[in-house]
Amino acid sequence: MEHKKMSKMIYVIAFFSGLGGFLFGYDTGAISGALLFIRDDFALTTAQQELVVSILLIGAAIGAVIAGVLSDKYGRRKVVIVSSILFMIGVVFMAEASNWIYLLVGRLIVGLAIGLASMVIPLYVSELAPAHIRGTCVAIFQLMITIGILGAYFVDYAFAADKGWRWMLGIGGVPAVILFIAMLFLPETPRWLARQGYWDKARNVFRRLKCKEEEIETSLKEIASHLEQQQEGFRYLFRGKWRSVVIIGMLLMVFQQVTGINTVIYYAPIIFEKANVPSDSVKILATIGVGVVNVLMTIVAIKLIDRWGRKPLLYTGIIGMIVGLIVLGTVLQFYDDSSMSGLLALISLVIYIASFAIGLGPIAWLINSEIYPLKVRGVAVSCATLINWAANFVVAMTFLTLLDTLGDALTFWLYAALSVVCIFFVHYKIPETKDKTLEEIESMW
Ligand code: BGC
Repeated sequence: MEHKKMSKMIYVIAFFSGLGGFLFGYDTGAISGALLFIRDDFALTTAQQELVVSILLIGAAIGAVIAGVLSDKYGRRKVVIVSSILFMIGVVFMAEASNWIYLLVGRLIVGLAIGLASMVIPLYVSELAPAHIRGTCVAIFQLMITIGILGAYFVDYAFAADKGWRWMLGIGGVPAVILFIAMLFLPETPRWLARQGYWDKARNVFRRLKCKEEEIETSLKEIASHLEQQQEGFRYLFRGKWRSVVIIGMLLMVFQQVTGINTVIYYAPIIFEKANVPSDSVKILATIGVGVVNVLMTIVAIKLIDRWGRKPLLYTGIIGMIVGLIVLGTVLQFYDDSSMSGLLALISLVIYIASFAIGLGPIAWLINSEIYPLKVRGVAVSCATLINWAANFVVAMTFLTLLDTLGDALTFWLYAALSVVCIFFVHYKIPETKDKTLEEIESMW
């Protein structure tokens, strides 16, 4: 009974803080539809359009770096609040932009907000959730990202007839306001409070979460003994065993990106065009279909993540991605003039995205919120998140060039080859964290 009550509260926390994930998905997704009209309104060159898209990724990388220091110093919750405020300011700049520069400033601010949110929210939830449902709770963040991406596709579709790009970008303000208000009522994490020496406040948060008194005392003792053994600061992070742990976390983020996910998220219509899908509306519908599968399979991941564990899901997911990528490359190279090519491309993309959604999508964020010692957790997650955004940027900026230089098949086979390497990496380097408290995970290294 106690446990059930606690579970409800933590799900509420995961959902509302997850609105930051929704905004992450929405703002990265909405630009593709909006850009067509912005280009016409502001007479943008190709380079200017590329900057409108990519400045958000640069902002996110900067945000990820700042978030680490801020979240260790001022707390996880305050950083989520700052992120929601930045989302609101950025949206106003974008929706009201009278010229290209305002738009860029808006995108940069929203990028900063996304960087903060993507670094701190998985960590925030992970430090609040009990071990047996921590995977589920952190994966809700990924679910919200996928819903945000899908929401953006729909909103773009709805406003396309009126060329309503200001609405497309402006609607993101609504969840940002809800996130801000919700965070005023949600608690700081007991682990951060304990780290700062606020033991009574930490105890009260555990009580708000309806933990039993004896569980609270055990958790606090465990946290205290771990804190005693730890030192603070960057130097500690990049020394001895923690250096390899941070490198493992960063590599997992690199693999999440260099196996090609955002070539699909950002460029799906172009991939369908290459597979000879004739009409624009079919391309948009197929892209929406891919977005729906992304959401649905993330729900499946949420159901399985604390039952199967992280590694079985990672293996299953990455193998599925390899199959999808090999088939996609083959279709684009050898069947692009066949009437079946569009359908085959859709099937391979569906296999690919479904597999990403049950594996690398949620689990890269989850593992990174679990594996670092408390005293340097913020800074460590921040390094991993920075690398995630940097790798995202590199893949997004090189994809079209790779298609031109390597050809369609080799490009997707390259992502498949990197996925094969990723399986070995998971096998040898990633620990199973299911059912373990964050303090137990720390002791495992
Ligand atoms: C990744 C994003 C990606 C999204 C797709 C996230 O886990 O970090 O780069 O766009 O999943 O669902």
